[in-house]
Amino acid sequence: MKRKGELFCSLRELVLCAVCVIVSLGSICATCPRNCFCPPMSNNVYCSRGNLDIIPDGIPFDTLELTLNDNKFKNPVLTRRNFTNLSSLKNLYLSGCGIESIAIDTFSGLTKLKWLDISKNDLKFIPDFTFRGLNLENFFINENPGIQFSSKAFAGLSTRGLYMHNCALRNLSLEVLRPLNGSLRALWLYENQFEKLDKEWLYLLRSLSHVRLGKNNFHCNCELTWLYEFFVKEDSIFSGGDAPSCSSPPSHRNKLFNALKAGDFTCELPTFKKVDAIFESELGKLTCTASGDPSPTLYWIRPDGTTETYYPSKTQPKDSEGVMYITNPQLTDKSKYKCIANNPAGNVTFSLNLAWPIAKEKPMDSTTVGRTPTTSVNKVNTIENKNTYEWTVNSKAEKNMGIVSTTDKVKQFSIVDIVGAVIGTFLLTLLICALVFHFYYRRRERLRYDDKRCCENKKHKNVYTMSDHDENCIKMMIQRNSEHIHS
Ligand SMILES: *[C@@H]1O[C@H](CO)[C@@H](O)[C@H](O)[C@H]1NC(C)=O
Ligand SMILES: *[C@@H]1O[C@H](CO)[C@@H](O)[C@H](O)[C@H]1NC(C)=O
Ligand SMILES: *[C@@H]1O[C@H](CO)[C@@H](O)[C@H](O)[C@H]1NC(C)=O
Ligand SMILES: *[C@@H]1O[C@H](CO)[C@@H](O)[C@H](O)[C@H]1NC(C)=O
Ligand SMILES: *[C@@H]1O[C@H](CO)[C@@H](O)[C@H](O)[C@H]1NC(C)=O
Repeated sequence: MKRKGELFCSLRELVLCAVCVIVSLGSICATCPRNCFCPPMSNNVYCSRGNLDIIPDGIPFDTLELTLNDNKFKNPVLTRRNFTNLSSLKNLYLSGCGIESIAIDTFSGLTKLKWLDISKNDLKFIPDFTFRGLNLENFFINENPGIQFSSKAFAGLSTRGLYMHNCALRNLSLEVLRPLNGSLRALWLYENQFEKLDKEWLYLLRSLSHVRLGKNNFHCNCELTWLYEFFVKEDSIFSGGDAPSCSSPPSHRNKLFNALKAGDFTCELPTFKKVDAIFESELGKLTCTASGDPSPTLYWIRPDGTTETYYPSKTQPKDSEGVMYITNPQLTDKSKYKCIANNPAGNVTFSLNLAWPIAKEKPMDSTTVGRTPTTSVNKVNTIENKNTYEWTVNSKAEKNMGIVSTTDKVKQFSIVDIVGAVIGTFLLTLLICALVFHFYYRRRERLRYDDKRCCENKKHKNVYTMSDHDENCIKMMIQRNSEHIHS
């Protein structure tokens, strides 16, 4: 009985083995890595959620599809050595493996690779040429928040589909995608943080058959009109996913592109918030502050025509500010400095006629001496008498449009625009009056004061006294209702 049983057992093993050999002609029966599942005849190895901390040994050489999703690798760096014996792979899934970086040429031995998924990892930076030599159909990099790409990260790669949603991308340079120009047909960039895309992207988008840009933070001003127009014209390219939407300006928040019109994408002509001229004995500081949508670029133009340029801060969009110092000034009687604020809606110019203080030696007044030298008082006079300013608006839409447009084009402005402009002019006039009156009054007071020569201290408040820093400041605060220029 015992012998018979043993014979039976070995017979059964024999039969099993035979079956095994038959089944595994060319394929594998015996070698499937632990914690993995290898369906017979399929050349596929599934090791999802297998508690593997390395890529297991024993993966058959001829495996076509390897799925390693959701195994937390103990070594977060992938290199070429990790895939040495897998050159037949067509599909490789490495989603959720805790990968932090991928060395250059890691996959370059996998010449047949078509699908590569490195989603849901902790990839932070992709250096140049990482994927060179690969010729993919679909490349998934989704859900790697904060990932950054070196400008040649995709150089040498070609792929038909690139999927990078939920990557917290905000400033992906078009340079990064340029190597894919030609091969790329589908690009998914939804749920990122793009606020704007340069119009250059149009060249890429035009070549695609499918694109997803929904759920970003687009700032819908005139700079994005091109994307809106592309969306309207090529709506089939956008089909299947959420339409792009706006996060700002507030009036457009959470509106989908298909709920907007081209006229909704407007820019706002710059407005000056403040123009300062502060003088010390050998130094002048000119400050110009302006806002607009988008934040304007500022230029200070010196009387000789030389220019200083101040680009708006990219990280914190707020008022643009340009500060120019004039040292050792060689100013003539009237020197015109100009601050120009420029954005796509147009140019606004603020001209400032500055006369540098001429230090006339005058006998000091005993009462004035207290805190300030007499020369400062002279400075004040010079500035008061000679400094003037003017400003002009010059938009792309309307050449030489004044603050109040008196041309036949008035009808193009809304009531709000005109009222705003009128109020602006009124404020300006008021300011000029106030300044003139102020200076006149101050001068009169000084004359009166001079007459009395040494007077009581109570008059002091009418005398122009300089600060310890011997500086004088002209401030012009002009606030206008913002003008919306449709571009
Ligand atoms: C990749 O290879 C390195 C060195 O050979 C090894 O330390 C690491 O564990 C491997 N990574 C995986 C995920 O198998
Ligand atoms: C690749 O296969 C060769 C030959 O079977 C073996 O010696 C080597 O250890 C394998 N390399 C890796 C990384 O698995
Ligand atoms: C993109 O943004 C990141 C931070 O979000 C910054 O470190 C990087 O310098 C920016 N790149 C460019 C080209 O502006
Ligand atoms: C992509 O290639 C086409 C022609 O092949 C070219 O016209 C276009 O400018 C390129 N786009 C970019 C973004 O380089
Ligand atoms: C605005 O000013 C800049 C700098 O002076 C100049 O280059 C540009 O041509 C001006 N644009 C318009 C519309 O006047």
